[in-house]
This record gives sequence, structure tokens and C-alpha cells, in this order.
Amino acid sequence: MSTSNTTRQITIFDTTLRDGEQSPGCSMNLSEKLEVAQALVDLGVDVIEAGFPITSVGDFQAVREIANSVTGSTICGLARCREPDIDRAWEALQGGDDVRIHVFLATSAIHREFKLRMGKEEIIRRAVDGVKRAKSYCDNIEFSPEDAARTEVDFLCQVVEAAIDAGATTVNIPDTVGYATPAHFSSVISSLVNRVPNIDKAVISVHCHNDLGLAVANSLAAVESGAGQIECTVNGLGERAGNCSLEEVVMAMRTRNDYYKVDTRINTPRLVPTSRLVSNITGMLVQRNKAIVGRNAFAHEAGIHQDGMLKESTTYEIMRPQDVGFMRTDLVLGKHSGRAALADRAKALGYHLNDEQLVSVFEAFKSLADKKKDVYDGDIAALIEQQNTTIVDQWKLVTYEIQSTSGNTPTATITLSHGDQETTATKSCGDGPLDALFSAIEEITGKAVVVRDFRVQSATRGKDAQGESIIEAEFNGRMYRGRGVSTDTVEAGTRAFLNVINRIEVGAGESDRNEAI
Ligand code: KIV
Ligand code: ZN
Repeated sequence: MSTSNTTRQITIFDTTLRDGEQSPGCSMNLSEKLEVAQALVDLGVDVIEAGFPITSVGDFQAVREIANSVTGSTICGLARCREPDIDRAWEALQGGDDVRIHVFLATSAIHREFKLRMGKEEIIRRAVDGVKRAKSYCDNIEFSPEDAARTEVDFLCQVVEAAIDAGATTVNIPDTVGYATPAHFSSVISSLVNRVPNIDKAVISVHCHNDLGLAVANSLAAVESGAGQIECTVNGLGERAGNCSLEEVVMAMRTRNDYYKVDTRINTPRLVPTSRLVSNITGMLVQRNKAIVGRNAFAHEAGIHQDGMLKESTTYEIMRPQDVGFMRTDLVLGKHSGRAALADRAKALGYHLNDEQLVSVFEAFKSLADKKKDVYDGDIAALIEQQNTTIVDQWKLVTYEIQSTSGNTPTATITLSHGDQETTATKSCGDGPLDALFSAIEEITGKAVVVRDFRVQSATRGKDAQGESIIEAEFNGRMYRGRGVSTDTVEAGTRAFLNVINRIEVGAGESDRNEAI
């Protein structure tokens, strides 16, 4: 552990677009990935892992587009220690000004024996060859011994030393299966610091999975032992139980700077807007009591707490809500609020709206304010995210009517427009009004989809709160995600379904990943 009093800078490496995106239900299309990449730059992330180029055309294109067009962070592409992977990663990255190739190879006995069927010497040889090939393309090379936390420490030290000798500038120590505990993981990092002779030539990074709920704790323990980079994801997305949560680990280091004596470049008031954006795009809802970015993270319900808060906020708050991007006061807007007030509020919530976007959000705000007396921050965020979609709607909802009484088959009539043309269909089927509405939409659009998941949650509080609906549906073997918002939950569901259909129209489904990888 460092005994110095000076603050060390920790590199934040975000893998939302790679480890996060590869987890079930979190796929993003190209324009969504570009939007997230820009948000990560605005957040102040040092390195963005944009994808794993060999795995699919979608991943390749995303890494290439992000490397070519996004500036302000290092852009990284992942590759196994195999020539075709590394060459493909470089092909995607080569147009960028500031890029990194990340190569990995498993080192634990379990992976050596059952997955790779390789002995220790061969692992070292392949790791060295992989790093050297990547180094022939660029200087900034990261090497990861996959499943490092379950690798014999002596062997881990040998592999890490060889990778650094071959040119790795960052050595990342993954706890691939979330098996480590803080004291154990800290001792692994200390062993590397103390036993690898050339360790000062590379930055030690950590990449912790959350299977035991310890990813943040393990990452912090590693920082105490000398790690200089943390790999993490927005909202803790990632394989299985996810990765170390960016917002949690960053705020832990910032809030407990007195103890850790470390800092990051993260612009913390962007944490909540970035979390909302990623949640909105992936459809992965943030649990209410999630640390830092959950809706309840700064809510005080108990009388004693509220009393203490009114007297002095530090009695019950260790961070200020505005430091992570929550507004201190949920200032209420209503139907008399003007465009300037809305623009101010959107800006304070962390959204940059251009004039055209402001016009459409203001229109939606006015119609919402007609139905709902008080418009809260959550309502405004939901409206902006709804309007801010990159999908241009081909099919638009004109009107619908439902008849539904208990015990009887519901009937739905809906009119949709497509260009100048309006079409109406009536369906009497299913076990609820939404079922009947979805069938009528399918009849009009000629697209039959299979709904795999359907959720509704309220965007704010109160009986007149807006409902946010998210639908995941399959069409021709591809998954599509749709989102709809309305004060009426039936309308929210209908809009979400229509959003799925519009995404099918423009081919904005999840990318096809090569399952063999
Ligand atoms: O969990 C893991 O081991 C990984 C590596 C590719 C770094 O994601
Ligand atoms: Zn991982």
C-alpha cells in the first residue's frame, strides 16, 4: 500500500460497450453505441472499450466508427491472443488518433485444462506472441490473463512479467468469474507489485465481476495495493451479475479520498444522466435503491432522518446529490411554464438539446402538462429520452379505442399513419386490451412479432405519474427493444410496441454476434 500523502490518479476504463453490451438483453445498435461513447467522453472516462471486433460485423463497425469519430478518450478494441483477432482489432482501430489493443488469454488451471488444453509454456508463448503482434501495430497495449484471480500466483507473476517484456503497457488482472474477496484480491495485486521485476513498466489494472456482490470492494482493495486502472461499466452492466459499477467505485474513491488518496478524471455530475442514458438504451432498469444513481439513493423517508437533514444535510448524507447529477430540489414545472424554464431544467438534468429537439420536447411537455398538474424531473427526463431517439418513426399512432370488461374478450380499434396514409384495424382477441391492440398493430403493419418481455414502471411519483413501458420482442430471429411513455399505461405499452415495429422497419435490432466466440 502506498504510504505517500499525494493523490494518485486512477485511470477509469469503461467496458459498458464491450463486457456490458455482451450480456443478455443489453445489445445496442451502432447509433446507440455512438451515443453512449460520446456520453462516456463527456463523463470523463479515460479509456472506452468499444467492442470485440472479430465477434461480429456490428462490433467491428462500432469500434471503427467510435475510433474514427469520438475524441477525448482512448478507444480500445478487444482481441484474443490470435492473429486473426488482433489483425481485425487493428483494422477497426487504425483510423483513430488515440487507440489501444487489448489482448487476452486465460491462465488459470481450469481454463488451461478444459478450455484451452494448453500447458503453461504454451500459454506464455501465446501471450508473448499476441502482445508482440499487437505491439507491431500500436504502442498502447493491454494484456489480460483471463481468470487471473483463480490462477496460481507464481504462474500469474511469470505470465505478467513475460507480457510486459513483450511490450504490454497495461496488465489487467481480471476476476473473470467474480470469485475473489477483497483481502485475497489485494494479496494477488501485492504479489505482482512485489514479485514481478518489470512491473514498474506497466500500469496494473483490475477487472472485477460481481458474482458475489464484491466487484466494487475488490477493485478498491486492488487500488489500495497499487492498481492504477479500474475496469468498470455504467450501472454495473456486464456478464452474469455484471462488472464493477463505475458510479459506485468512482464515488467511493472520491468520497473516501481521505483514506484512499486517489482521484479520477470523472465529471461526477454526469453520473446520473449517463446512467439514465444507458438504462434507457439497454432497457436495463436501475433498481430504486441502487447506490449513487438509484431513485432512492438520496431520498429520506424516516422522520428522524428528515429532521436531521433539515438541520444539517451531512447528518445523513455522505455525498451531495448534485455531485452525482441529481437535483437538490425536484422543482416542479406546470402548464404555465415556458420554453426557457424547460430548457433550463433540461440543461440542469444534463441534457444538451439543440433547437429542433427543444421544440419537440416542449410540444410533448405541453401536452403532458395538460394531463398532469405537476411535471417532475423524472417526467422531463422520460420525455427527452423518448424524443431523443435516433429512430425516425415510419408508423405513428393516430388514435385507439378499447373495450374491455372482465370475463369478456377485449376489442381494440387502432389507427396508424404511414406517410400520408392512415389505416385502421379492429381486433377482438387475447387476454387483455394490450394483446388486442398489439394484434391490430401487427395486422396493419404486416409484422408478427413474439413479445419476450414486457415491463411498465412509473417515471415519477403520484397517481398521475407517467408510465414507462419497455418491450423486448423477437422478429425473424432478431431481438428488438421498444420504449413508450404516457400517463396512460395502455398507451405507454402501445407506443413501446409501435417503437419495436419502427425499429424492425429500419433494421435497428440487436447485433448478431458470432456465438462460437
Ligand atoms: O472477465 C474477463 O476476464 C474479461 C476479459 C476479456 C478482460 O472480460
Ligand atoms: Zn469481464
